[in-house]
Amino acid sequence: MTAPVPRRLPDPESLLADAPLVWAALQTAGWSAAALDELLGTTARTHLDRDELAPLLRRTQGGSVLEVLARLFVLGTEVDLKQAHAAGVPESWLVPDGFGVAAAVRLQTVVHGGVEVLVAHDPGRAADGVHPEQVLGVGAASLTLAAATPRRTVGRTLDLGTGSGVQALLAEDHSSTVVATDANPRATAYTRLSAALNGVQLDARTGDLLEPVRGELFDLVVSNPPFVVGPAARYTYRDAGRDGDDLCRRLVAELPRHLVEDGTAVLLANWLHVEDEDGDARVCSWFGPDVDGWVVQRELAAPEDYVTAWLRDSDEGSRFDELYDAWLDWFALRRVEAVAFGVLALRRGSGRVHLDDVPQPVAAAWGEQVEAFFARQASPEQGLLATPWRLRDDVRLHQVARRTEDGWYAEAQVLQQERGLRWSGGVDVYGATLLAGCDGTRRLGDLLAVLAGSAGLSEAEAAEQVLPVVERLVQQGFLVP
Ligand SMILES: C[S@@+](CC[C@H](N)C(=O)[O-])C[C@H]1O[C@@H](n2cnc3c(N)ncnc32)[C@H](O)[C@@H]1O
Repeated sequence: MTAPVPRRLPDPESLLADAPLVWAALQTAGWSAAALDELLGTTARTHLDRDELAPLLRRTQGGSVLEVLARLFVLGTEVDLKQAHAAGVPESWLVPDGFGVAAAVRLQTVVHGGVEVLVAHDPGRAADGVHPEQVLGVGAASLTLAAATPRRTVGRTLDLGTGSGVQALLAEDHSSTVVATDANPRATAYTRLSAALNGVQLDARTGDLLEPVRGELFDLVVSNPPFVVGPAARYTYRDAGRDGDDLCRRLVAELPRHLVEDGTAVLLANWLHVEDEDGDARVCSWFGPDVDGWVVQRELAAPEDYVTAWLRDSDEGSRFDELYDAWLDWFALRRVEAVAFGVLALRRGSGRVHLDDVPQPVAAAWGEQVEAFFARQASPEQGLLATPWRLRDDVRLHQVARRTEDGWYAEAQVLQQERGLRWSGGVDVYGATLLAGCDGTRRLGDLLAVLAGSAGLSEAEAAEQVLPVVERLVQQGFLVP
């Protein structure tokens, strides 16, 4: 089997003029995330990712205008020219395909936090071969960044490495101005196209990293950069193409200069764990002395697993073996033991950097935790005992109890957050009682005094037992001031 040959890519710039006609066609057909879910089923994305078109073709055989548009822009299959015209798709957006026509680009509807956006991106599935300059649709990494982005209303937002423009469009909903940059001119053209399809204004600029915004300040910066660490720069959308994890290090070093005083940057990153080095310390060392940072480590992959995952992602066909060996040799030469993936958040500050290992499933939107993290850093230290803590509203206590002669005996109690990073952790009966009293009106020290009395402990003994737990609960956001 030979590697699939990348197809010729469309020119998104040439589609811009007729974007309003396509927008009108979509509106007339009732195009929306909900309508597409109803038509294609909620598993449509999984079918598309696996190249399984049959279930989707069966669901779109009725010939309605929405079905024709879905075949063109979601499935990427051929339709009859007359059908395409009847659906209102302009000639400029069509290419000959078999006995009919296909759409020049794909459209993807994304819903995040109640905001719906439509992005345009290149056609081509992994099985057809990924082009080095391919502009991809919205994938798992895109959604990871969207989930981590604070959605507070701000003035100026920068989306660095904008691709299809998805982050820029989501940010447009809560920003006065959005600047979207990318090194790939095809990506900035797609971002303009996506903006036109959403009827919004974005300032899309082409250039390397922060070059296009030299000297400019932002309230919010989001970036899903090409963070993948490896020997070659094969794909612009994916490969850092600099030595090791240097691209992410450089971004962390340079981004603070582009933030206003209380501005926040959130980016995805990979960082290396190298033999005889502390990988956590490595990423934490990227943050300068005038920056506060939060590292949310989501995964730690062995080199073999990392390389396999990324080679599968671009479906390298028969080149798999050759590329796998070259990539692993490259890691071995650099004594790489593992590659970490996570979200890095930073603000101007005073060099306080904290790393959390967060392997658990998290909420689809947890950007408010980024704000809460920096608020904790900034708030004057009152001391744990002097603060009237409040248990966050979404925290639940799960109990496992065994029946005894005296009734139910609680064997284990687990606190679980329903939102945010969905931390969970065990507490004993005393801890649970104490937390039940944390309603934001009573100081922890007063609650602890009552608890110590009922447990027959001195206040000092009770504090010694409870304070380390409370500290963790504050850090993980169970308790808020
Ligand atoms: C992983 S994609 C992210 C796309 C989109 N923001 C998302 O979240 O789905 C990375 C993007 O960074 C762009 N890029 C690659 N190298 C870059 C560089 N040196 N400077 C700016 N952008 C770059 C790529 O062209 C690609 O569009």
